[in-house]
Amino acid sequence: MEVFLDAKVALITGGSRGIGLEIAKVYAQSGASVVVFSRREESLKRACEAIKELAPRAHVSYRIGNAGDSNLPFEVVDSVVSEFGGLDILVNNAGTNPHFGSTLSITPEQMEKILRVNVMGVMRWTQAAWEGVWKDGLNKGSVINIASVGGIAVGGGIGFYNVSKAAVIHLTKQLASEMGPTVRVNAISPGLIKTDMARALWESYGDQLAEKLPTRRIGETLDVAKAALFLASSMAEWVTGENLVVDGGSLLI
Ligand SMILES: NC(=O)c1ccc[n+]([C@@H]2O[C@H](COP(=O)([O-])OP(=O)(O)OC[C@H]3O[C@@H](n4cnc5c(N)ncnc54)[C@H](OP(=O)(O)O)[C@@H]3O)[C@@H](O)[C@H]2O)c1
Repeated sequence: MEVFLDAKVALITGGSRGIGLEIAKVYAQSGASVVVFSRREESLKRACEAIKELAPRAHVSYRIGNAGDSNLPFEVVDSVVSEFGGLDILVNNAGTNPHFGSTLSITPEQMEKILRVNVMGVMRWTQAAWEGVWKDGLNKGSVINIASVGGIAVGGGIGFYNVSKAAVIHLTKQLASEMGPTVRVNAISPGLIKTDMARALWESYGDQLAEKLPTRRIGETLDVAKAALFLASSMAEWVTGENLVVDGGSLLI
């Protein structure tokens, strides 16, 4: 893979599995140093080994915690800056959905968890990177928020999660308008991607959906990671406040 992110430092929340791990792999193969963050040390260690296998020369590290913790992002950003000398790319990828069913049946606890991780998490990690690295305008930065097509279209079963992703799309535009000229902020809205989080969905109707999609297949993590590489790289230096839909055409059917 061509080197697009040489000497950049990237921090990826939810980077131990699924879309986040794929982004970390692609970034490392493209020349970046990567830090993956999630809750479980064992899976973080496995993730780092998998990244090193693909990109043996990359500087790879991990941090442990819950992406919905309000103060931890500031500690993590400080420690990343200490270890790597800076931070160039923040990928707000960690997301959660503890509720499936009629939107009206969700509990306050489930709503709070969704908002804390999916919306406030994006805010707190971005605030931490802004305060710790970007506020003085001396360093360029790129923030990539992983939203969802659910944040654009109304869909069954995961209604409040979809509301949180609509908030992420709007937050992306709001932050982009405030963090220029040195920091760009963009979102990616994936359609159905084959990961653990969406397993119940693609196992039950993935084949049926694939038949209807213009691209005739459901998504792979690499589809999203390629978009994340584009947005983080100088190829997208005039792109900010955008929501790049990566869904194989699902919004067209
Ligand atoms: N898969 C899809 O079809 C799809 C579609 C649209 C959008 N998305 C979005 O894409 C993002 C990644 O999803 P995915 O499908 O790759 O999920 P996944 O395969 O389940 O991976 C989730 C990753 O996030 C970590 N994580 C989960 N909750 C966390 C928390 N509270 N704090 C820190 N880390 C946490 C997990 O590690 P630990 O469990 O060890 O913490 C793991 O590394 C999410 O924002 C999701 O909403 C996914």
